[in-house]
Amino acid sequence: MTQPTNDTEVSIVGLGPMGSALAQAYLDKGRSLTVWNRTQGKADVLVSKGARRASTAGEAVAASPVTIVCVNDYPTVYQVFESVSAELRGRVLVNLTSGTPEEARTASAWADERGFGHLDGAIMVPPPLVGRPEAVFLYSGTRDVFDRSRHVLDDLGDPRYLGADPGLAVLFNTAMLEMMYTTVNGFLHAAALVGASGVPAAEFAELALGWFMPTVLDPEGLAEQAPNLDEGVYPGELGTMEMNMNALEHIVRTSSEQGVDTGQPRLLKDLAERAIARGHGSHNYFAVFEVFKADAGGRSAR
Ligand SMILES: NC(=O)c1ccc[n+]([C@@H]2O[C@H](COP(=O)([O-])OP(=O)(O)OC[C@H]3O[C@@H](n4cnc5c(N)ncnc54)[C@H](OP(=O)(O)O)[C@@H]3O)[C@@H](O)[C@H]2O)c1
Repeated sequence: MTQPTNDTEVSIVGLGPMGSALAQAYLDKGRSLTVWNRTQGKADVLVSKGARRASTAGEAVAASPVTIVCVNDYPTVYQVFESVSAELRGRVLVNLTSGTPEEARTASAWADERGFGHLDGAIMVPPPLVGRPEAVFLYSGTRDVFDRSRHVLDDLGDPRYLGADPGLAVLFNTAMLEMMYTTVNGFLHAAALVGASGVPAAEFAELALGWFMPTVLDPEGLAEQAPNLDEGVYPGELGTMEMNMNALEHIVRTSSEQGVDTGQPRLLKDLAERAIARGHGSHNYFAVFEVFKADAGGRSAR
């Protein structure tokens, strides 16, 4: 077993595009840093800039009180760290490898059994933005472990602690990714709809993104609805689900007329129909939330 040394402040295991960006951020901030990667050559540039090279993952762990792991997936995390869990004892492993909430919870239990601190994190920015103050990193797990690691987490950007359930960081990350894909798809389908009549996407974007999104779909307006979602209140005075069915029906028929794919509009119409079937015809469109929640199984994270 490698003897404890703790002679650098932080270690990074995994030097893909993201791990290398994390390491670079530490070098930029003047932190003492140890790095390890399966393919050793990927450490060369960082070592030439002042990082210390570990010859094994165990050596990297023993070099610092906090080790950050950023590899391709969870099976690799276990593959790399199972044999060095003795070196981790009394130290902290911050996992920035992407996965699912259950994978994060299982990893946390695995760390508990082996006597080391574990935080699970999710990186909300691409590698070039790592280290900037606006780069949000989400973390969840034991509060005390977060507080003890905070000084090194601050160097990577804007650390947000979400709670003790280790699955929360990746859950928030996944939820926001879903928002990203559905929002982008909304624009893409709408651009295809007008594009079928020869309108360039750039011309459509001027009105759709320049005016419609910020004015009609503004985040402040959506945020105002959030408390109603929590309370299950969907007042229909300004518009009902039944009225929205009319628009949804037109989107499906127009898509068909324009010869563009109807899958997405049909899904939207189907969701509204299911909300009406559940008794939300006279409520506003946000009652679709009840359809989404119905299949959730009600897992309570906090
Ligand atoms: N890149 C992004 O924009 C971004 C953004 C947010 C989150 N993330 C997450 O960050 C993590 C790392 O992403 P990445 O972009 O740096 O590249 P990646 O391709 O997901 O991961 C590459 C790293 O995994 C290591 N690895 C793969 N299999 C291994 C094994 N069997 N044993 C030991 N190491 C192994 C690679 O080592 P070798 O060099 O030896 O192959 C390399 O260090 C991922 O979970 C990703 O989802 C990435």
